[in-house]
Amino acid sequence: MTMQDPTETETELLAAVNGADTLDALEQVRIGALGRKGRITDLMKSLGGMSPDERRAAGPALNGLKDRISSAIDARREAMETSGLEARLRQEGIDVTLPVRPETNGSVHPVSQVTEELVAIFADMGFELAEGPDVEDDFHNFTALNMPPEHPARQMHDTFYLTPDESGAQRLLRTHTSTVQIRTMMSRPPPHRIIVPGRTYRSDSDMTHTPMFHQVEGLVIDRATHMGHLKGCLIEFARAFFDIDDLPYRFRPSYFPFTEPSAEMDIGCSRADGELRIGAGDDWLEILGCGMVNPRVLENCGVDSSVYQGFAFGVGIDRIAMLKYGIPDLRSFFESDLRWLRHYGFSALDVPTLAGGLAR
Ligand code: PHE
Repeated sequence: MTMQDPTETETELLAAVNGADTLDALEQVRIGALGRKGRITDLMKSLGGMSPDERRAAGPALNGLKDRISSAIDARREAMETSGLEARLRQEGIDVTLPVRPETNGSVHPVSQVTEELVAIFADMGFELAEGPDVEDDFHNFTALNMPPEHPARQMHDTFYLTPDESGAQRLLRTHTSTVQIRTMMSRPPPHRIIVPGRTYRSDSDMTHTPMFHQVEGLVIDRATHMGHLKGCLIEFARAFFDIDDLPYRFRPSYFPFTEPSAEMDIGCSRADGELRIGAGDDWLEILGCGMVNPRVLENCGVDSSVYQGFAFGVGIDRIAMLKYGIPDLRSFFESDLRWLRHYGFSALDVPTLAGGLAR
């Protein structure tokens, strides 16, 4: 068997290694030299046919050749990888001399902010967040809340009715979040302690009314809940929300079909020189409706009113947002005017604290 001159093989292979200009080409060179049928592998195989003396001379030479070629391949690969990385870094480099794109921070809408504040305050008192659908039926919005058909109190709500579906069922946009009282009481047994923020709808529009607005509903049902709990809870809330420890308040008798007795809560304010100031002065400002849940509502929901009773309240979120942050026109809330939002909006970092007020 004639053996190719190892020196010649080495020269040729090294030329091929250095001539490979891609990683794939280099791999082909490697296979051609060191692979199963590679040239160096063939040379190694030829050792078997040699006499012991020849083998002793040729063996180390071939091993040396094999080592040099594989280090040459490794070195070449490394060099190619490094220069590939450098090329990429060069290409992907950031041009720090480019002018900066103008960045603006978004802001939190006052309605979202006040909702968060309300929920945080009630969560601190042990209330659980609950929600319900905006599109409702007559039962949840009226009948179960002790407003059967023909009940005069229905006229107080300028309801948006939707066109009946094929089955003739009449759907409506809920006029208040009290619907979620019903949904909650019908879905699980008492006790209940829920706080329900959400959108509500009435066909009404002026400085202080928009067709869509926001309410927070509260409901507490337990075995020994009484009017004292209602008052304590709402006084605590009003003081935390407006961040005034001695905020004056009063409860005025009122009427809601779903509570008995019913009340409206006012807080003290002054209106001197056309400027509204909360917490001072001898004037009053209504902030919410409330009352002891009417036993009829409990019975409508399958709750035994001889064992359970409780209270409910409803707060207009937009309204108290206007009061707390001095925003005069409710309609501006929903005009999506960025200048307005920049002025009245909140930083996402103004997180409401449980004790009321804002942590900055
Ligand atoms: N649902 C009433 C309204 O929208 C508010 C309310 C809720 C009053 C719960 C009493 C109890 O006017």
